[in-house]
Amino acid sequence: MRLADDEKQMLDGAEGPAVQKAMDLLVRYGDALGAERFVDTDNVTLLTGLFMYPEILKKEVPDLDMDTIASKFFLDSDEVVVVDKVKAYTTTHIFTVNNTYWKNIQRRSPILAELAVLTEAYCRRIGANVTATCSPYLAGNVPVRGQHCAWTESSAIPMANAVLGARTNIEGCHSSFASALTGKTPEWGMHLDENRHGNLVVDVEEQPTNMFEWGLMGYHVASVAGLRIPVYRNVKKPPTMNMLMPLNAAGGSSGSVIMYHIVGITPEAPTFEAATGGRPVADRIVYGKAEQRAAYERLNHSRSESVDIVIFGCPHYSIESISKVARLLDGKKISASTQLYVTTNRQTKALADANGYTDAIHRAGGLVMADTCGLEFKHVASAVIATDSPKQAHYYPGKCGVENVWYGTVEECVEAATSGTWKGALP
Ligand code: F3S
Repeated sequence: MRLADDEKQMLDGAEGPAVQKAMDLLVRYGDALGAERFVDTDNVTLLTGLFMYPEILKKEVPDLDMDTIASKFFLDSDEVVVVDKVKAYTTTHIFTVNNTYWKNIQRRSPILAELAVLTEAYCRRIGANVTATCSPYLAGNVPVRGQHCAWTESSAIPMANAVLGARTNIEGCHSSFASALTGKTPEWGMHLDENRHGNLVVDVEEQPTNMFEWGLMGYHVASVAGLRIPVYRNVKKPPTMNMLMPLNAAGGSSGSVIMYHIVGITPEAPTFEAATGGRPVADRIVYGKAEQRAAYERLNHSRSESVDIVIFGCPHYSIESISKVARLLDGKKISASTQLYVTTNRQTKALADANGYTDAIHRAGGLVMADTCGLEFKHVASAVIATDSPKQAHYYPGKCGVENVWYGTVEECVEAATSGTWKGALP
């Protein structure tokens, strides 16, 4: 990679050993990717990922000293270096600390519980803003068009690229940490104009009208797109942000769509020609009734109609969605045999608290939780789960061993929670 003067200085240690290690890691990373240079970034979402392997960490670092953990696991350094402050504006992913599920986590893995608390304190110490969410845009991290970012979390990446017009690849624990320390990210992939153009035309015949239907479309298209960038054509009614959240989440579950265009709607697709960069596109698929049904059948794989758990909030639920659940539950009670959970971030939960939605959901027998994720519910393998999230419907079988999952509309899920029975169907 060709380094600018400030990057050479960081690599030479002028800004201390932690920044030096971070720059060394990014140079190796950029070289491996074929990047020629760095771009400046002042927007990083940090994924610590420590919750994925707590027992291994404890073996490697018995006292769970965060400087040692950060050096070894984020900066690939055997020498322990102490981070002063992050250089880029940084927000954080989920920690599972501040939630009502916390006691279960402590029981399941005391090490995980301890690590979550230590990680949160560490992030605060180094100046990373603890937003604790997979949906940074709901917590005030909203980059603008053209802004270079180093974001993590598959469902958030297309929100940055396709919806906001910002530029980010899918970063991981190491690269996001190193970018936070240096304010640099290798210029490759989504940072370059030529890689952002669409190369798979999707002719939309079955018009999605709600979150559920946008989720189905994203799920189907991602399952055939591979690494191509879909260009949705003929979308008659612009989606809301709430509808794009399941589109994005589904796109990162059945496939790996990190960028797409909706002609006439998303910022880099005012016209079809702009979306494709004026290049001819040979690959074309149709999204019609048959494709919608195929996606529905892949996501609905329950053999039981009685529902044990209803879960909302993947990606973390917006205030719009929480208010809708509260409204649908008004004057009703959750069935004695069913549990209902809403997961969101601290910021949105505070709004829900202030507006009375949390109370309304709790009065009906549900539970609103901040900072956590339904896939943390690891004791649920034998339960029948209903969700409005295509991402969780996709991951529950593989990640939590849940065999019986229903995917449906918010209304169908609330109905399942109050009656204890699944009555959803594809219209
Ligand atoms: Fe977020 Fe968990 Fe879903 S991290 S996107 S709520 S799988």
